[in-house]
Amino acid sequence: MIADSLILNAWYAAGLAAQFPTGELKGRKIGGKPVVMWRAADGTVVAFDDRCVHKRMPLSAGRLLENGLLECAYHGLCYDAEGACVKIPSQPDGPIPARAKLRPYSVIEQDGLVWIWPGNPEKIGNCQPPRTPEIVSEEWDTVCSDTLRVKANYRLVIENLLDITHFYPLHDGNIGDEANSRLPVRFEEKIIDGNHTIKSIRHAENYKQPPMMVDWFGLETVDRDHTHHMMNPGLTRVEIRVAPPGKLGAGEDRGYVLYHTHMPIDREHVEWHWVVNTPAWYRHADGSRSVAERFSETFPSVVEEDRWALEKQQAMFAYDDDGYSEVPLKADKAVMGIRKLFAAMEAEEDGSFLR
Ligand code: FES
Ligand SMILES: [Fe+2]
Repeated sequence: MIADSLILNAWYAAGLAAQFPTGELKGRKIGGKPVVMWRAADGTVVAFDDRCVHKRMPLSAGRLLENGLLECAYHGLCYDAEGACVKIPSQPDGPIPARAKLRPYSVIEQDGLVWIWPGNPEKIGNCQPPRTPEIVSEEWDTVCSDTLRVKANYRLVIENLLDITHFYPLHDGNIGDEANSRLPVRFEEKIIDGNHTIKSIRHAENYKQPPMMVDWFGLETVDRDHTHHMMNPGLTRVEIRVAPPGKLGAGEDRGYVLYHTHMPIDREHVEWHWVVNTPAWYRHADGSRSVAERFSETFPSVVEEDRWALEKQQAMFAYDDDGYSEVPLKADKAVMGIRKLFAAMEAEEDGSFLR
């Protein structure tokens, strides 16, 4: 069931690189697992099971010592950045039990995001976290949201992001209108960096933009390309390009690349970040700030509408189906593709790791 689905064998963004300053402990719940993370002295971000090997005390409630060791707050066992216990205050002459090692999680820092693989590391194979080059490029202005936590399964967020027909009525008057729902859509499925991706593509001509987009892009009527691309279970990339009618692709396109990270906290909660990138050359109409900054002022109200809907939708899964089943519409083709893909991924989960 979508409301309690969980894929562990995938890369998820545990946060933005800037959220991991050196020496700061982070206690996280990722895919239902307790995880402690920190940026070690050599600059790499490490992640381990957050349970002290001694008596399950959360290590994230401990502290990092000057010498870089992680000290448990309960009886003072100390661990190095490889997760090995190297000190036991109550038995200074040893021995340190061989099993006194923290279970590590694979972490990759790439393009401004910190990715974690909460599942079986043997299943990583050639699967890489999706690329997000705009986040670290000088040619783009980038603004990141605060961390959003929504009481809904992360798959409902993914389905929401691939489904533009909810812009009316959920986002009517800001980024949505009914004309948007009628735009024809096509789909592409591709393997990129070892990830099965699904993309919805919409092209519109002489499209009268809704108010927020007029404000961001400074144009009432545009030709527009709009794509929503699930790059892996942890990231959806949205790209919008607009230009005056007849001018799309002529070198002055405006728009954004908007990344959504969706990391399952557990089966019923998702951690969500959005990261908007706008071309550095293009400023907001009043000239005082980049379009990314202007976007970050107005877009949170849109996300609050999504949160409102997602939490209500999640709550309805508490009822027995009792003969009920959803009716998919033509525009739900991408969502149906995602459901098929996740069903295949779920079948591949080995079910034995960390459960
Ligand atoms: S629980 Fe961590 S040292 Fe005892
Ligand atoms: Fe939405």
